[in-house]
Amino acid sequence: MKKRVLSGIRASGRLHLGNYLGAVKGMLELQNNPEYETFYMVADLHALTTPHDIDELRKNRREVVIDYLAAGLDPEKSVIFQQADSLHAELAFYLSSVVTVARLQHLPTYKEKVKQYPEHSTMALLNYPVLMSADILAYKAHAVPVGDDQIPHLEVAREIARKMNEQYGMDFPEPEQFKTTGHYVPSLTGQGKMSKSVEGSFITLTDTIETIKKRLAGVATDSGKGYIEKGLYIDQQFSRHETDAVSYSDGVSVLMDFVTLFQGNHRKEEYDTLYTSTGIRYSDLKNELADAIYKELEPLQEKRRELEEKIEYVDEVIHEGGKKARAVVEETILEVREKMGLK
Ligand code: TYM
Repeated sequence: MKKRVLSGIRASGRLHLGNYLGAVKGMLELQNNPEYETFYMVADLHALTTPHDIDELRKNRREVVIDYLAAGLDPEKSVIFQQADSLHAELAFYLSSVVTVARLQHLPTYKEKVKQYPEHSTMALLNYPVLMSADILAYKAHAVPVGDDQIPHLEVAREIARKMNEQYGMDFPEPEQFKTTGHYVPSLTGQGKMSKSVEGSFITLTDTIETIKKRLAGVATDSGKGYIEKGLYIDQQFSRHETDAVSYSDGVSVLMDFVTLFQGNHRKEEYDTLYTSTGIRYSDLKNELADAIYKELEPLQEKRRELEEKIEYVDEVIHEGGKKARAVVEETILEVREKMGLK
């Protein structure tokens, strides 16, 4: 039996490099591995957990599918669908009976969102990780390609799987993160992770080369030079740091992460050498990096334009994917209902 994979992205606007490197790349890798059966959805129900615009949501739930297809997700290999079409909410209710309110209230994402939207501390928001667990357990998935920010939610899914197995004799696997090299993509601001909700933090998959250059131009740099002596790094303020690698300032360290991700380790090592010798010219580095990022995004953007002309095809993919996904979920729900005493 093939192992199953489930992942999703919230229908809340344009995808950024964090979504692409942390999730989509892993989704692609597993789609193309014949040992796995892959289910990829648009998390449109999760978009209801924070304030939303109805027309925007209607648009975004299709836009994410277009992004998936443009990035190379293939309906011949993966089931591509919208979460709201597939009975996950019903399973989430059954699963919610084995999770305490206290457990959910302590999750970092819940606390953050309540701070961000103090007027919208809803049941749907609190239940976010339970719905996400239902997304995964509905398919008895083993692997979940997601970025590091989703690890606390995966932990809830694992706990729910354990409890359902112990209390009701279910056979849910404990799902695990499938980690990509870009499992944590930093924010361009130099603080925290790249995120849709932080302006100035992201590069989107549809950005033009000019926009990418503009966004990189905003990343804070330093004088371009530092010194390393026998495991000791001395920065421009002459502070001493013990290290076995060059330790850059916040903004430059973000640039270096992107250099590694888009241009490879070798180029990053060359910059390390430059930094401790003649110095780095950041305008050149940023231009070269922008080109490398755009080179990866350009084919996706071209494919996206083609798909925008073939909306009936996109809708057909969604329709067919929904049917296939629902058939699997119906089976799991029947089993859960029976084991819980509802049949
Ligand atoms: P969302 O929409 O916030 O993000 C989608 C995916 O992108 C990853 N990601 C990142 N990875 C690395 N670095 C970053 N800076 C970065 N920013 C975002 C996220 O980790 C995620 O993988 N709850 C999920 C959606 C979801 C889901 C699921 C995922 C709903 N049900 C079931 C997997 C399985 C979310 O909000 O993702």
